[in-house]
Amino acid sequence: MASPPRVCVTGGGGFIASWLVKLLLSRGYAVHATLRDPCDPKNSHLKELDKAPENLHLFKADVLDYDTLTPAVEGCEGVFHLATPVPEDKIVDPEASPCSCSLHPDAYRQLMWRRRGAVCPFVHRSVEYKTELVLTGTMGSEVLRPAMEGTLNVLKVCSAAKVKKLVVMSSIAAVDFNPNWPQDILKDESCWSDKEFCEENGDWYSVAKITAEQTALEYGDKNGLNVVTLCPPLVFGPLLQPTVNTSSKFLIYVIKGGPDVMNNRLWPMVDVRDVANALLLLYEKKESSGRYICSPNNICTKDLVALLKKMHPKYSYINNILDVDQKASLTCQKLMDLGWEPRKLEETLSDSVECYENAGLLHDMAGHPCRLPHLYRLAS
Ligand SMILES: NC(=O)c1ccc[n+]([C@@H]2O[C@H](COP(=O)([O-])OP(=O)(O)OC[C@H]3O[C@@H](n4cnc5c(N)ncnc54)[C@H](OP(=O)(O)O)[C@@H]3O)[C@@H](O)[C@H]2O)c1
Repeated sequence: MASPPRVCVTGGGGFIASWLVKLLLSRGYAVHATLRDPCDPKNSHLKELDKAPENLHLFKADVLDYDTLTPAVEGCEGVFHLATPVPEDKIVDPEASPCSCSLHPDAYRQLMWRRRGAVCPFVHRSVEYKTELVLTGTMGSEVLRPAMEGTLNVLKVCSAAKVKKLVVMSSIAAVDFNPNWPQDILKDESCWSDKEFCEENGDWYSVAKITAEQTALEYGDKNGLNVVTLCPPLVFGPLLQPTVNTSSKFLIYVIKGGPDVMNNRLWPMVDVRDVANALLLLYEKKESSGRYICSPNNICTKDLVALLKKMHPKYSYINNILDVDQKASLTCQKLMDLGWEPRKLEETLSDSVECYENAGLLHDMAGHPCRLPHLYRLAS
């Protein structure tokens, strides 16, 4: 009997990756999943998946360590690169206390102006901060290094192992934040987020995703590696893993309510099971190339609350929502043309709520108000 096709999934225990591993196993693939700590109980769900005993192999690997990736990728025809931190808390804030940031506010301003090739008008010229050093030290360990250096390591390992196709998980964070895009035109794959704009907003997660995706596509072109990228928006749906990931905390906040004000902006969103399907579709379709947006639903905050309330009236829900102008949203026609068929938003929301209820995630905890993850406070 022919041996099953073999693929590797980086960050295999994460929210989206767990669904991808489950899907791959169900389709007869042998899966190498990389984990930073295979013995951590937060990854134990992987061993319970159907066909895991015979076809799932766990590898201890950190994307920052090239040598640990080599055995995981060896012998694989394809690789899905998903491992990236999705931080819940603020990454760097020059105005914050020294415990959350060691960067002086003036140093930060100076760096931002210098990157634009200009002199900062707010800080005296004679004051020179060693900003690059401090900034790299502060943010690097959190999101930029794993996304940039980690992606480069994965690219190089894939080249060395002669992998046929690498599917890289990007994000609409690499598409959507472009203030120069015309307001009335849907954003497609030709739209890139403006890196300087994101830097100026302290949105380091988006900077990391833009840089990682650009690096992956450029590396693929230059080195003859077949690289495609997927750009999902907010991902919801049932959790397979025992921990709660950052995007699920967004929906939990909307349901439970809390002190953070939200704008009534349009939120693009997608089901985690449809993201797994999209990743596999990109891998299996020979003609897939370049980047793909996978954002089938857009709903503003007030309509999201109304829809959820209709299905589950017993929760308190957020009630501090500010009206704002709506922005043009995204089209995922390119992915639809490849045969992707996402489910309806109602199904995603209802399955998410059911999962949160069963896991006891919607109970109030006295003295611990629910908070909106900082990542989405930036965008709201
Ligand atoms: N969820 C969303 O709404 C959304 C939207 C768009 C794009 N994405 C992208 O989808 C991917 C998965 O996100 P998710 O929502 O599933 O988040 P998640 O559950 O937090 O998973 C992230 C995974 O990355 C791993 N990781 C982080 N740093 C690593 C490192 N240095 N070496 C190896 N593994 C590392 C984590 O492993 P540990 O458990 O060891 O920390 C974890 O398994 C990310 O690339 C994210 O940017 C997510």
